Amino acid sequence: MRKLIAGNWKMNGLFAQMDDIAAITEAVAAYPAVDTALCVPALLIRPAAGRFADMAIGGQDCHMSVSGAHTGCISAEMLADAGARLTIVGHSERRAAQGESDADVRGKALAAQAAGLSAIVCVGETEAERDAGQAEAVVLGQLAGSLPDQATGSWLSVAYEPVWAIGTGRIPSTEDVAAMHGAIRAALVARFGAEGNAIRILYGGSMNGDNAASLLAIANVDGGLIGGASLKAEKFLPIVAAAAAA
Ligand code: 13P
Repeated sequence: MRKLIAGNWKMNGLFAQMDDIAAITEAVAAYPAVDTALCVPALLIRPAAGRFADMAIGGQDCHMSVSGAHTGCISAEMLADAGARLTIVGHSERRAAQGESDADVRGKALAAQAAGLSAIVCVGETEAERDAGQAEAVVLGQLAGSLPDQATGSWLSVAYEPVWAIGTGRIPSTEDVAAMHGAIRAALVARFGAEGNAIRILYGGSMNGDNAASLLAIANVDGGLIGGASLKAEKFLPIVAAAAAA
């Protein structure tokens, strides 16, 4: 399966950073065997997608409704209209800060599909849940509730992002990543049959140029969702290079 390396800029990026997007876009062109995407702040989607058509530009969230009285929200159709080809849904920062439920995330994924976008659906346990031995149960519960029945590998990827690994410089052991990605794969196959093998499972949480090769070598790690290390080409490119070599 082709690996997907997607950057999540979160709430970082002004128009001045278009030069950084340009540098990333130019550099990833050297790795055509890897699918790459940059999920930028919504206001940068249109200028980025217009200028750098060879790299997928995405959003970081969308509303589950097509349109309506939802002040401040952005629909999947608006993302697509701006030139996005994908969007993240259900990131743990939104689950925690905006109180998004699994049902909300499922609705957002379906809205993305309806607008012609790919979706990266995020799941992941907190440190307290892992310490309590609940990591797998929590993640598989989120997965069951957040994925729509229509999920296929052509438009949907899962991102496993342990909350305690995001922005902390800590990552799970190889064994723990292998166990969780294996459990997610088994759940996908149990629910979607052979199609479950076509759905990419990304790892996210403190992935960087130093650890990418070993993370991407683990079975069922089909790519990465990268936060901090996606903001600059010199940090992002070693991850894309590791994916090309994996
Ligand atoms: P970091 O790579 O900064 O840990 O962030 C991961 C993440 O949350 C990507 O969605």
